[in-house]
Amino acid sequence: MLPEHAPFTIDQRRTLDSLLAGLTPVQQGWLSGFLAAGSAPAAVAAPPAAASKLTVLYGTESGNSESLADRTVKEAKKRGFQANMKNMADISTADLAKVSNLLVIVSTWGDGEPPETATTFFKEFISSQMVLSGTRYSVCALGDTSYEKFCQTGKDIDSHLEALGAQRILARQDCDIDYEEGYLSWLAGSLSALAPAAAAPIEAVSYVAPTIPSTEYGKKNPFPSEALATLILNGEGSAKETLHLELALASSGLHYEPGDALAVLPVNAPDTIKALLQAAKLTGNEKIEVKSVGTKLLADALREDFDITALSRAVLTKLAEAADSATLRELLGEDAKQRLKDYNDGREIVDAITDFAPKGLTAAALSGIFRKLPPRLYSIASSPLAHPDEVHLTVAAVRYQTHGRSRKGVCSTYLADLVKSGDQVPVFVQPNKNFRLPADGSTSIIMVGPGTGVAPFRAFVEHRAALGSPGKNWLFFGDQHYTYDFLYQLEWQEHLKNGALTRLDVAFSRDQPEKIYVQDRMLAHAQELYEWLEEGAHFYVCGDANRMAHDVNEALISIIENQAAISREAAEAYVEALKKSKRYQRDVY
Ligand SMILES: Cc1cc2nc3c(=O)[nH]c(=O)nc-3n(C[C@H](O)[C@H](O)[C@H](O)COP(=O)(O)OP(=O)(O)OC[C@H]3O[C@@H](n4cnc5c(N)ncnc54)[C@H](O)[C@@H]3O)c2cc1C
Ligand SMILES: NC(=O)c1ccc[n+]([C@@H]2O[C@H](COP(=O)([O-])OP(=O)(O)OC[C@H]3O[C@@H](n4cnc5c(N)ncnc54)[C@H](OP(=O)(O)O)[C@@H]3O)[C@@H](O)[C@H]2O)c1
Ligand SMILES: Cc1cc2nc3c(=O)[nH]c(=O)nc-3n(C[C@H](O)[C@H](O)[C@H](O)COP(=O)(O)O)c2cc1C
Repeated sequence: MLPEHAPFTIDQRRTLDSLLAGLTPVQQGWLSGFLAAGSAPAAVAAPPAAASKLTVLYGTESGNSESLADRTVKEAKKRGFQANMKNMADISTADLAKVSNLLVIVSTWGDGEPPETATTFFKEFISSQMVLSGTRYSVCALGDTSYEKFCQTGKDIDSHLEALGAQRILARQDCDIDYEEGYLSWLAGSLSALAPAAAAPIEAVSYVAPTIPSTEYGKKNPFPSEALATLILNGEGSAKETLHLELALASSGLHYEPGDALAVLPVNAPDTIKALLQAAKLTGNEKIEVKSVGTKLLADALREDFDITALSRAVLTKLAEAADSATLRELLGEDAKQRLKDYNDGREIVDAITDFAPKGLTAAALSGIFRKLPPRLYSIASSPLAHPDEVHLTVAAVRYQTHGRSRKGVCSTYLADLVKSGDQVPVFVQPNKNFRLPADGSTSIIMVGPGTGVAPFRAFVEHRAALGSPGKNWLFFGDQHYTYDFLYQLEWQEHLKNGALTRLDVAFSRDQPEKIYVQDRMLAHAQELYEWLEEGAHFYVCGDANRMAHDVNEALISIIENQAAISREAAEAYVEALKKSKRYQRDVY
């Protein structure tokens, strides 16, 4: 009766199964879900008396939470719930008052912030004082352990729901990038805890992930796409290294729309693996067990399966045990948070092994500290109409000096250094419904995309040209130098000539003593930009999230404030309304 993934020995299973057999079907389903989840709920609520309504509330930026919300609703319906899903982008806090059964799936972005489209809801919710004592809930938080504020948004929502009096029916599940297992356990546990008594007899709670035909490519089965062409977009002498990569999608069955991202599954570089093996004092010929894969040579697993670079509290916690390091345990203490942050800054796993496991590690101990190698996302830079059966990317190679050493990004340099024409690159499409061209081709668009942020706008302009959309298209592009870094210059000039691009304003930041950025160009053309907005133009931003996206947002607010001659608050409300009506969309990272 217990689900297969419940964490018990055979003997424990037998005992628990016989206990469960004595209960009603509802009680069985309810209890076995908790057991499967492997964690006790904070407060156990009795199953409701009638077939229950269930709201699955999600907040997403790159679509993971949305697809899990969709799966949750489907599974809940199978179990007799009247389930529906709601995007945080489309709901206000007041709507929660009517919800009696609530499952929340939400990711964290930026530096511990909510996803872009959930920001308004989140702000309103976190400051709300409403009473939710009639609401039963559980939260599944998506995140990435390599970020300091792991799953922060899920944590904030979970604790605020509790503070508002809502009843937590299952402990929050915090998921790393590889979220499937955690999600399934949470799904089973929470649906059982909420199980409607009036539903048809409930089968033992075990969620079977849909089996995917071997020919169907996607996240669980990435497509080995052939690299057709690679080209460095910067001229000789540039400080940047931006790669244009063309991949084949023919016979993959994969489809994308402009605005979507492509996920790439890299392998680790030979020199990175060598340095790690040296630090751990191993050869690479040792055999190890890789979860869901089987027995492998350590060197192969380090290349293909493990994230062997990103340092995090999670990795250091496992290393402290593996190396039995008191110094590291101290660094992980509650009172050493700032010291840990400083240590992690600019360091990788190899540094931590050198520092805290000076005698080396066994192969099993080493492999035990890693998480699965996560895929990286790249905004798609091509329109499927302009390049059928192909997908193009614009990738900035990440290379930097830190603590006196040269370091490089895993995926960007895998694409730049290791992938040659004819090689196969494992990929899947990550749809992004929050970054879409206007449905009406006659609507004007304003695109702000410095550096690699220009990628989706190449797709947008190609797509509108292929469709013959009459709407006006205005691009703000920026990079360091006109001579070396004018990405896709000839294409933009061609688009300007044939009318596919209405306006192009460029900001080359390092061609003069003072910095000039895209937002300076926006401010210089404030009147026209405001007129475009007033005529209904959609406004898009792509690229750096740390500073650029914020500064462009500030420039936009200031343009509206001055042009409309309204207060700062009114201008902020104008921008908020643009976001709400999906006329202001961002793809920032
Ligand atoms: C939706 C989305 C779309 C994206 N689109 C694009 C795109 O179109 N083009 C593109 O190039 N990228 C894009 N990215 C970023 C991309 O996914 C990767 O994050 C990027 O290529 C780096 O990955 P990597 O594996 O090379 O580096 P990683 O191995 O992941 O290393 C990156 C890490 O290195 C460290 N680091 C980097 N620079 C320094 C430094 N100077 N000093 C100290 N430490 C440093 C930081 O810890 C950083 O997190 C996008 C990301 C998202 C989420
Ligand atoms: N996670 C990663 O490791 C990773 C990997 C790739 C890209 N990224 C992000 O994606 C961004 C795009 O990378 P990229 O190399 O193509 O371009 P970029 O570094 O964003 O640079 C593009 C242009 O934007 C300018 N710029 C800098 N600060 C700005 C600001 N506050 N407002 C407006 N413009 C600003 C730059 O000027 P100056 O340089 O002269 O100041 C440059 O002219 C990066 O900044 C980075 O944040 C991250
Ligand atoms: C630019 C960027 C910033 C992120 N910031 C965080 C963070 O601060 N904390 C965290 O736990 N996860 C962070 N993540 C990881 C995401 O939460 C994770 O990828 C999640 O699966 C995304 O789910 P979504 O597609 O529903 O938005 C970040 C991811 C990216 C690409």
